[in-house]
Amino acid sequence: MCHMAHRVVVTTRIPDPAADLLRSAGELWMPEDARKLGEDELRAAVRGADGVVAMLHDRIDGRFADAAGPRLRVVANTAVGYDNVDVPAMTERGVRVTNTPGVLTDATADLTLGLLLMITRRLGEGERLIRARQPWSFHISFMLGSGLRDKTLGIIGFGQIGQAVARRARAFGMRIVYSARNRVDPGVEAELDASHLSREQLLAEADVVSLHCPLTTETRHLIDAKALEAMKQSAFLLNSSRGPVVDEAALAVALRDGRIAGAALDVFEREPEVDAGLLDLENVVLVPHLGSATTETRTEMALLAARNVVAVLSGQPALTPVR
Ligand code: DGY
Repeated sequence: MCHMAHRVVVTTRIPDPAADLLRSAGELWMPEDARKLGEDELRAAVRGADGVVAMLHDRIDGRFADAAGPRLRVVANTAVGYDNVDVPAMTERGVRVTNTPGVLTDATADLTLGLLLMITRRLGEGERLIRARQPWSFHISFMLGSGLRDKTLGIIGFGQIGQAVARRARAFGMRIVYSARNRVDPGVEAELDASHLSREQLLAEADVVSLHCPLTTETRHLIDAKALEAMKQSAFLLNSSRGPVVDEAALAVALRDGRIAGAALDVFEREPEVDAGLLDLENVVLVPHLGSATTETRTEMALLAARNVVAVLSGQPALTPVR
């Protein structure tokens, strides 16, 4: 175990098993609730920390590291995405950065299939209609959606989550195409009967485009007005990756003008804000960043982050370091 003098800071309230593990590693500071700390509060909280468990809404950069001070050795981000972390600034200061891959793959893929069904079968729209106490009755052409069998699912970013989405979509009879920086293992392509396409080809062919890439300078606004223009008019867009991968204002215009059929979004460009142009549209599903939000998954994520802190502070290699 770690030296008792270690100070460990968690920037939000995390599940008990993870907090207990951290307590065994040193003195733990954790806020009473799960709200996001303000920048000043965050800096004050991490002063003198050896290890920090951070959330995706915490900005982890040089100023953060300077506020923490020279003892800081590890920042464990409780998310698979780490676009909130300036990794070079941490590495320069000898601080290890870790993330939480793997444990949230199923939850995020499940949520993505939820988005897929919600938008293609108009579930949000139907729910709104009933809750608005609108009159309705079953008839043969009432609220028709789009079927999935033999449709093409285009997955952008074919890592663990993208592949888990493909595996599930195969059960719905969908054909899988993907675009990614690197082709995946031929065994995976064969298992999923997935074809690698250029992004342009994928946008032109897919009936549903689902985003599973990390947010980087290359992927910011990957789906902009031009990309939306390249999609089929009957196509749907799903985003459970990071909001800024999509130009939200351009998407609102494309949806309003019927340039594409619909979109389902779990993430937003300026969370928790949502582009006002999207809020009154029927052909968009909006849910508040719920990809990994199950009790089981969030506990696993917090535990993995805690294990990373414990490992580094006891001189062991991190379990899931960011490269
Ligand atoms: C992540 O892990 O990056 C998600 O956005 C939160 O689970």
